[in-house]
Amino acid sequence: MKLNNILLFLSFVLITINQISITQAVQCVDYNNPNYYRFINPLMNNRAYCYIKPTNASEISDAILYAQSINRGVSIRSGGHSATQFSMLNKTVNIDLSSLKGIEIDVEAQTVVVQAGVQVIELYNATTKLLLATTAGSCPTVGMGVVLGGGSNYFGGKYGYMADNILEFTVVLEDGSIVKANPKNKYSDLYWALAGSGGGGFGVVVDYKIKVYPIPQYFYKNTIRFDIVNLDKALALLDSYVRSATEQTRENIYVNMYSQLTLKSANMTPSASITFFYNGPLEEGDFEFRKLLADFLCPPSNPTCTPLGRVTTMDIQTLKKTFWEVISSMSYDNNPLRQFTKGRFVKKLSKNDVPNAINDFYKYAVTNIINSTSLIKPETLLNINQAIFYHGGKQNQDRTGSIDSPFNSFLHRGDEAMWSYTIVAQYNNTENDPLFSGLRKLVNSKLSSIGDKLNNNYPDDEFEDWQTGLYVTKSNYKKLQEIKGKYDPNNYFNYPQSIELPKK
Ligand SMILES: *[C@@H]1O[C@H](CO)[C@@H](O)[C@H](O)[C@H]1NC(C)=O
Ligand SMILES: *[C@@H]1O[C@H](CO)[C@@H](O)[C@H](O)[C@H]1NC(C)=O
Ligand SMILES: *[C@@H]1O[C@H](CO)[C@@H](O)[C@H](O)[C@H]1NC(C)=O
Ligand SMILES: *[C@@H]1O[C@H](CO)[C@@H](O)[C@H](O)[C@H]1NC(C)=O
Ligand SMILES: *[C@@H]1O[C@H](CO)[C@@H](O)[C@H](O)[C@H]1NC(C)=O
Repeated sequence: MKLNNILLFLSFVLITINQISITQAVQCVDYNNPNYYRFINPLMNNRAYCYIKPTNASEISDAILYAQSINRGVSIRSGGHSATQFSMLNKTVNIDLSSLKGIEIDVEAQTVVVQAGVQVIELYNATTKLLLATTAGSCPTVGMGVVLGGGSNYFGGKYGYMADNILEFTVVLEDGSIVKANPKNKYSDLYWALAGSGGGGFGVVVDYKIKVYPIPQYFYKNTIRFDIVNLDKALALLDSYVRSATEQTRENIYVNMYSQLTLKSANMTPSASITFFYNGPLEEGDFEFRKLLADFLCPPSNPTCTPLGRVTTMDIQTLKKTFWEVISSMSYDNNPLRQFTKGRFVKKLSKNDVPNAINDFYKYAVTNIINSTSLIKPETLLNINQAIFYHGGKQNQDRTGSIDSPFNSFLHRGDEAMWSYTIVAQYNNTENDPLFSGLRKLVNSKLSSIGDKLNNNYPDDEFEDWQTGLYVTKSNYKKLQEIKGKYDPNNYFNYPQSIELPKK
């Protein structure tokens, strides 16, 4: 151990849990070790006071009580994907859940108990071998904490959000007690709040019991590539394809749009594409994809027209993929990159404001960053990615029939939340901060034209009315505040944009 890795404390006496006195040891380690920060955004400079890596619920409980004994708050890191660094807060005791890697599958009951440090790719690795899966996040390395804010991907249309598939949470509360919250026990209010409100303001979730579904061996997946100048037409076609689809089809499909500017060793490659995935028989997938594709191609009657989009193949045998192939082929870079991320739920892609804003951000990025003479090189890694994600099917159905009595606290439902938009701007050269802060300013000033409903899994630390942005209705937020008051009366789990205590 390096000299500057001071062991801040060794052990302390803990007297709780059924009046039994026990001595526990949890290590809170100071880290000047730069490797510890490799997972996060170096643009943010947050440094916790020390960190603890618990291996089970009782060690989480010890960690909380230890932090309280030295008068410090905690911050909680599951996958550590928060570009706003909400998972690593200054001066706190950081509870790093990455050692909690348990995955217990009950094949017969079709349930899995997943611990909080498991990443999406690890969950799918374990379940897809048994041809079981459920909705989770779409980024392979995101941690299970994503469930708290919804959790959406290829399966969302058919199974709803990941938060909709939670059967039970194990949670460590502010007093160190370990409880199980499900819809039927005395913690049903806590269950309701945890499923969808994000952030971890009620306690530390240790594990999630989730429902899994049998999946077929192969899925249909295809990609339409198009020129970014046709973005507005492509978005309008995507929107009208989904809106004219039957509810049944909306549950089976998944679509997204990516437009990406990547600079690698001074070569800029712009790309724009639509990905289509079908959760059902391959031939049905092929049939549906052709409907979407038709509008991107020229009519046979017009041999001189230039098609709007192109595909590499239509051969089903080439296209068919196991779910594991789909998920593990997604590129992800775990290098720490300076970055900002913004996200909004979107109603209609065809509304002019949406493509206009995306185009403005794109043009600004090309002119004022990529092609700018002030871009300081070497900037060998630079990505500006704008994406549209699909949230249709079961995800946006209000399954209780009333927005006033939803079955969990995730209220981005209905037509208002058919899509979401995200921009991820990443680079690694400190000297280019000014160029990127210019883009960030533009995005902040125009993002409201895309939407004003926030996605808890893409936190926006610069959004003022985050209470309404995140929780949609005043009554939903008020109910969350009451539950907060019951389970965390001293607001111990206090982070940027965490649920506030109710007004006295
Ligand atoms: C945390 O502390 C660092 C270093 O002092 C500072 O740069 C950063 O802004 C602080 N973060 C927050 C969220 O206040
Ligand atoms: C938690 O983990 C620690 C360290 O491995 C172990 O000593 C302790 O018995 C565990 N506690 C429980 C309740 O499993
Ligand atoms: C998937 O699981 C196997 C063990 O069953 C393991 O060897 C492999 O490394 C895992 N792959 C990933 C990407 O997690
Ligand atoms: C940016 O530079 C590339 C390559 O040098 C060029 O093809 C492109 O037209 C430029 N774009 C703008 C908007 O200046
Ligand atoms: C940016 O990343 C590249 C590739 O990892 C690396 O070679 C380069 O030194 C990095 N630049 C800075 C300023 O960190």
